[in-house]
Amino acid sequence: MGKEFTQKEIAKLIDNQESKIAKAWHNFVPPISPSKEDMKIYEEFLKQAVLKKAQKALVLGTTAELRSLLHKYKFFVYYADFNLNIMKESLKYVKPKGPEKFLYENWLNLSLKNNSINLVIGDWVFNMLAWKKAWQKLMKSMQRVLVPDGCFITRVGLYSPKFSKNPERIYQLYQEKKISLGDVAHLLYWVPYNKKTRSANVKFAFETMKKFLKERKLSEQEFKKIYVSEKGGYDVILTAPFRDEFEKLFKKYFIIKDRKSAQDYWFGKFYPIYFARVRK
Ligand SMILES: C[S@@+](CC[C@H](N)C(=O)[O-])C[C@H]1O[C@@H](n2cnc3c(N)ncnc32)[C@H](O)[C@@H]1O
Repeated sequence: MGKEFTQKEIAKLIDNQESKIAKAWHNFVPPISPSKEDMKIYEEFLKQAVLKKAQKALVLGTTAELRSLLHKYKFFVYYADFNLNIMKESLKYVKPKGPEKFLYENWLNLSLKNNSINLVIGDWVFNMLAWKKAWQKLMKSMQRVLVPDGCFITRVGLYSPKFSKNPERIYQLYQEKKISLGDVAHLLYWVPYNKKTRSANVKFAFETMKKFLKERKLSEQEFKKIYVSEKGGYDVILTAPFRDEFEKLFKKYFIIKDRKSAQDYWFGKFYPIYFARVRK
């Protein structure tokens, strides 16, 4: 039998790739990074969350845009990632404008005390986890750390049967200016979608984009807006359930107060931002 890797060992394996991603983060386009409108929605929801003095927030991941937003509203910011390099790289590009503490931990097993956080925020975090056990674990983990009136704001990637399965057609939509380059990459992610696991390996998208580059359908500059290098290593599995089943599960642990979608990129409608209050 093969060796079972711990989460920390897995994190080490992907460290190199992730640190390259952190370096290139400022070049990335939505939906990989939150769009301008996504950030407006995050801010609108954040203002609706209870804003008393000395609020504590938890960011899942290192997302610079979210940490800056929380500092604007004077939060003490915890941010958690099981990848140390991505945090180090992010600090080279974001100078924190307020107090923050990095937790080198797995979101599913955080050392934070029960009822200690007022607000959790995370961009595209569920999608990194296997459906449905780990999604449920993350919900439970956030339910545990949040105070009784605590909120969870998160952009979630959801799968739709409307997504094209044809790479050439996807490229054509880009050529016709119906979708952006970021949308192309995300549509390609879901081409090998496995309905059973609700997931796909992003390697297919990477290989297809590399083919487009070779055929000069994409320039190197365009390619770099999505990928940091042509050398591969994009052996990552992303997950996206259908909207109904996500909301059904989410509602067990959270009360959905609102859900908004950015209109400034095609994928916005499939990757809405949820504003939810914890059930205790
Ligand atoms: C936040 S997510 C998705 C990308 C996102 N839009 C962003 O702004 O970074 C990417 C990060 O999640 C981290 N990650 C994924 N699963 C994790 C887990 N179970 N615990 C802690 N960090 C995790 C990865 O190391 C990576 O740095």
